[in-house]
Amino acid sequence: MVDFTLSDEQLALRELAHDFAAKEIRPVAWDYDRDSTFPQHIIEQAWELGLMNVYIPERFGGVGLSSFAGVLIEEELAWGCSGIQTSVGCNGLATTPLLLAGSEELKRRYLERLTAAPLLASFCLTEPDAGSDVSAMKTRAVRRHDKYVISGSKCFITNGGYADFYTVYAKTDPQAGHRGISCFIVPRDAGVLVDKHEDKMGQRASNTATVTFPDVEVPADHLIGEENAGFKIAMMTLDRTRPGVAAMAVGIARAAFEFAVSYAKERTQFGVPIAMHQAIQFMIADMATDIEAARLLAWKSAVLLDEGQRNTLLSSHAKRFAADVAMRVATDAVQVYGGYGFIKDYPVEKLMRDAKIMQLYEGTAQIQRIVIAREIFAPRD
Ligand code: CAA
Repeated sequence: MVDFTLSDEQLALRELAHDFAAKEIRPVAWDYDRDSTFPQHIIEQAWELGLMNVYIPERFGGVGLSSFAGVLIEEELAWGCSGIQTSVGCNGLATTPLLLAGSEELKRRYLERLTAAPLLASFCLTEPDAGSDVSAMKTRAVRRHDKYVISGSKCFITNGGYADFYTVYAKTDPQAGHRGISCFIVPRDAGVLVDKHEDKMGQRASNTATVTFPDVEVPADHLIGEENAGFKIAMMTLDRTRPGVAAMAVGIARAAFEFAVSYAKERTQFGVPIAMHQAIQFMIADMATDIEAARLLAWKSAVLLDEGQRNTLLSSHAKRFAADVAMRVATDAVQVYGGYGFIKDYPVEKLMRDAKIMQLYEGTAQIQRIVIAREIFAPRD
């Protein structure tokens, strides 16, 4: 049976996240965007309320939510501000490799750090010359006795400047392409350097840094899973986190839609509110349909995970479609506002800037199409 009715528990969780977004995030979101300041205080509040580390199992002190429950939260917090939600939710991305493949001891040691205090972790995959093409990474990890020595640099790292530890991908067998990549936990105090905080177009409340590993030594047991299994761990991680990115995109689109609807009712041109003009009504109608469809894809891609099924195809459908919807809806919301939409005093200008990154991070819109096409023409077992 297919049932889209939320349980009382799911409704309560969504309401908790919505209230937090409405009371704590929305009122300050445009200030954080203007100043590009890090939302430390909001992260601490979200941590206190259990809106962070939602996928960490209860036995490690986390909330232990299903993927479906997680996407309900992610949509609401991103409705408040997607830049702030990128900061709040990033521990999910950084800890998924550990949850998927880490030893019990490594999980206990590092997951409990995040649940004992409002600390952050970052996911370090991208490099200046290896974005979409993950296998082209140059960061090296060399085994020396009971340690690995990691050297290289990662860019565009969310929360990179504030993280307590990093999930780092590095080549352990440089001749083996994607089969020569391994994944490690690297504590910041092992000698990690944070080089740069990017001055971004949108999601300006989130911290995006370059992180360098200058011959950083970690104990050999900080390897996550098997040596040279890192590429698959990264792909499986992204399968699991893209539903949440899709839900965040729905949150941005919904925010832009709501602003556009209320402005269309207020703004009068040609003697009537512009909501009376069919040109505006059609734009609003398309926004509403797109948001519904994007949300259903995000939900389905999360439910497959909760059912223990492979969701690669649905995850890319959801992430690709919802990101494009966020961009389209936010752009049309600016159109509904007319010239005012282009001015920073009005809210939709920020949403249009914020939406753009949804088509870029965690796999560009084009990479999602590659994944979808491969799943159609040459599906993995
Ligand atoms: N699950 C498990 N295994 C998978 C997989 C999946 N979803 N996808 C691929 N694999 C396996 C394949 O079966 C293959 O296995 P074998 O070695 O047994 O043959 C292997 O991985 C290699 O697969 P491909 O040949 O498909 O690899 P590719 O080099 O062609 O790359 C790609 C495929 C989809 C383009 C991939 O590189 C990719 O997803 N790129 C985008 C990376 C990305 O999303 N980066 C975002 C960084 S995170 C971020 O943005 C967050 C932030 O902080 C800002």
